[in-house]
Amino acid sequence: RKHLLSAGDLTRDDAELVLRTAEEMRSLADRPIKKLPALRGRTIVNLFFEDSTRTRISFEAAAKRLSADVINFSAKGSSLSKGESLKDTALTLEAMGADAVVVRHWASGAPHLLANAGWSRSSVINAGDGTHEHPTQALLDAFTMWRHLGALDGRRVAIVGDVLHSRVARSNALLLQTLGAEVTLVAPPTLLPLGVEGWGVETSYDLDAVLPKVDVVMMLRVQRERMNLKGGGFFPTVREYSRRYGLDGRRMATLQDHSLVMHPGPMIRGMEITADVADSDRSVIVEQVTNGVAVRMAVLYLLLGGSEPAVGGDAGDQT
Ligand code: CP
Repeated sequence: RKHLLSAGDLTRDDAELVLRTAEEMRSLADRPIKKLPALRGRTIVNLFFEDSTRTRISFEAAAKRLSADVINFSAKGSSLSKGESLKDTALTLEAMGADAVVVRHWASGAPHLLANAGWSRSSVINAGDGTHEHPTQALLDAFTMWRHLGALDGRRVAIVGDVLHSRVARSNALLLQTLGAEVTLVAPPTLLPLGVEGWGVETSYDLDAVLPKVDVVMMLRVQRERMNLKGGGFFPTVREYSRRYGLDGRRMATLQDHSLVMHPGPMIRGMEITADVADSDRSVIVEQVTNGVAVRMAVLYLLLGGSEPAVGGDAGDQT
């Protein structure tokens, strides 16, 4: 496999290989030397047309821990702001010898165009495209669940909030079902996408009814910046939204003892999740970020065909 564009492209074997490889990568964190030489001499470009904290930094950390050279490229401050096209940007990156391009774009489908238009020979990794997909987020979410709960077959996951604008929800719905989990989307009717019936998931408007049944509750940010786009989505008021769909301490108390609270970030504390819940023992939100580095190391390693044993080789060969 050369590109990672959609969580739906991953077979169960593919996904489980990423999880197992990520577990090996995560064990590096406990070593005095955290770098491997696996991608030495390779060049990875982070091409970001939309803002990011976690994804951009964790791809950079992941690439550096595999000894790759990293070029960070954001639309702001580049010739893109002078009107340069995606095609000419891709040709420029190709000319500079990029082996992989990690792309975040406001337009759904931009990474697919980059991968399939024949402009470049690089691997393309979708780091979030519009309201469409965010496959490495779904992989790190599944990895976090798998580390806590074991195999995901039959596990119940509620994804709660602004599903309409959420690339995280779509990628998670695809991947979690591939891994055998049962997914329920919980949202006001105006924040569920058209065609959600085709996702193969349950839907509910009633968070209180769903919470006691699930092993994981994944809260989503309300993406108000996307609400004036075509396809809109109606947002009531912060108070009304929080009252119906926010996770607070009272609601968290109705979860089963083993259940996890997750959020892909960035969080709006006080809207979809209260600060006490975000900082509680049940919350694995910070751990998701740690796991994101290991999962992105696994993805880069597997796509670029690392030339050295991942972990467990001769420690003296590490840089
Ligand atoms: N979860 C996520 O994609 O966060 P960033 O937008 O900060 O990368």
